[in-house]
Amino acid sequence: MLENRRILLIVAGGIAAVKVPDLIRRLRERGALVRCILTKGGAQFVTPLTLAALSGDKVYQDLFSLTDEAEMGHIRLSREADIVLVAPATADIMAKMVAGQADDLATTALLATDKPVMIAPSMNVMMWTHPATQANLQTLKVREVKVVGPSAGDLACGEVGNGRMAEVPTIIAALSRFFQKSAGQGPLTGFRALVTSGPTHEPIDPVRYIANRSSGKQGHAVAAALAELGANVTLISGPTHEPDPDGVKVTHVETARQMMKACAEAMPAEIVVCAAAVADWSVKGNVQKLKKGVKSPALNLSENPDILATLAKAGPLRPGLVVGFAAETENLIENAQLKRAKKNCDWVVANDVSPGSDTFGGDSKTVHLVTAESVESWPTLRKRAVAERLAERIAAYAERHF
Ligand code: CTP
Repeated sequence: MLENRRILLIVAGGIAAVKVPDLIRRLRERGALVRCILTKGGAQFVTPLTLAALSGDKVYQDLFSLTDEAEMGHIRLSREADIVLVAPATADIMAKMVAGQADDLATTALLATDKPVMIAPSMNVMMWTHPATQANLQTLKVREVKVVGPSAGDLACGEVGNGRMAEVPTIIAALSRFFQKSAGQGPLTGFRALVTSGPTHEPIDPVRYIANRSSGKQGHAVAAALAELGANVTLISGPTHEPDPDGVKVTHVETARQMMKACAEAMPAEIVVCAAAVADWSVKGNVQKLKKGVKSPALNLSENPDILATLAKAGPLRPGLVVGFAAETENLIENAQLKRAKKNCDWVVANDVSPGSDTFGGDSKTVHLVTAESVESWPTLRKRAVAERLAERIAAYAERHF
C-alpha cells in the first residue's frame, strides 16, 4: 500500500523526533518515498544529516533559503506529495495549524498544501489535555486532518499519561489504511456483503399500514462501515429517513416479502448482516379502504418469511458469515443465544429495547456480540461506532476463515 507513495514528513520539535529515523527506515522498506522538512525545534533532537541519509533526499529547513527556493519553491514542496505527515506534532505546531500561521517552512507548507494531512501528536500529558490543545484538535479534525495517537504511557518528561507519540508501526498502519481507503480498497475488498435495514411496512388497506419504530440508523451504518473496509455492499432498506450511504448499492422496499425477494436477488454474498426490523406478520388483502362500521374489523394476519433464517439455511449458497440482530425486552443474552441457534446464524448482535433503553431512533446503544463460543459485551457506543466495530470483526473473521 505504501509502494511509491510520496510522503512529506514534517518533523517538529519534540523528543519523539528521535523515533523519526526508524519511521523513515520502515516507510522506505515499504517502498514509500519520504522527503523531510525539519523545523528549528526538530533539529534540536535529530540532525538533518541523519534524515537526509535515511530518506535519500535533501532535507528542507529554511523558508528563505535561496538555494532551496531556486531548486524547489515551498509551494511545490507542499504539493509534490500524496500526504503530509507531521510527526511529532507538537502542541505549538497544532496551534499554528489552527491559526493558519506561516512563520517557518513547515507551517508555510502546511498552509499551502492541497494534500491530505496526518498528524502524530506528541507532548506532555498536561499540554495534551489542556482545553486549548483539545479545542485545536477538534478544529483540526473538523478540517479533516487525520490524527494518529497519541498513546498513554511513560512520557520523556517523567510524567505518566496520554501524550506519547504513536509507535512507528501504528503510524505506518494509519498511513496504509489511509491509502487503502483512498484507493477504495480495504480488508474486505473482493467480498460481497448484503445488509438489511429499517422497518418494513405491511399494508392493512391502501392507506394504512403496520410499522415499527426502527429508524434504519444501525443497518445503514453497518452498510457504510463494510463499504469503507472495501466490501461490495448491497443494502436492502425498508422505509427510513436515512440517506443512502455512499458507495453502497441500495434497493428500497416496503414490505417483508419485497425485502425477502430483493435479498434473494442480491445473493450470493459472502457476508450477510440482517439489521432490519422485519414485521413478523402481513395483513391478508383488503384491496379497498376499510370503512368504519358497527363492528371493529379484525385483521387477518399471515406470517412473513424469516429473511435471516432463510439466508442462513445450510446449503452450498450459504454465506460464509451470517449476522443477525436481536432486539429483546427481557432475558437478553439467553434469548439471543436461542435466536442464534434457531435461525442458524453465526453471530447475533443483541440489544435491549425495553422501555427507557432509547435504542429505537436513538444514536447510542449497548450491545452484546453473541457467537457459538462466547458472549462479548461492548461498552455503550454510538450506532456508527457499533457498526465500525462490527465491520472490523467481520474483516478479521473473513481474513481467518474465507
Ligand atoms: N428477521 C428477519 N426476518 C424476519 C424477522 C426477523 O430477517 N421476518 C431478522 C432480523 O433482521 C434480526 C433477527 O431476525 O436480524 C431477529 O429479529 P427479531 O425481531 O429480534 O426476532 P424475531 O424472529 O422477530 O423474534 P421475536 O420477535 O419473536 O423476538
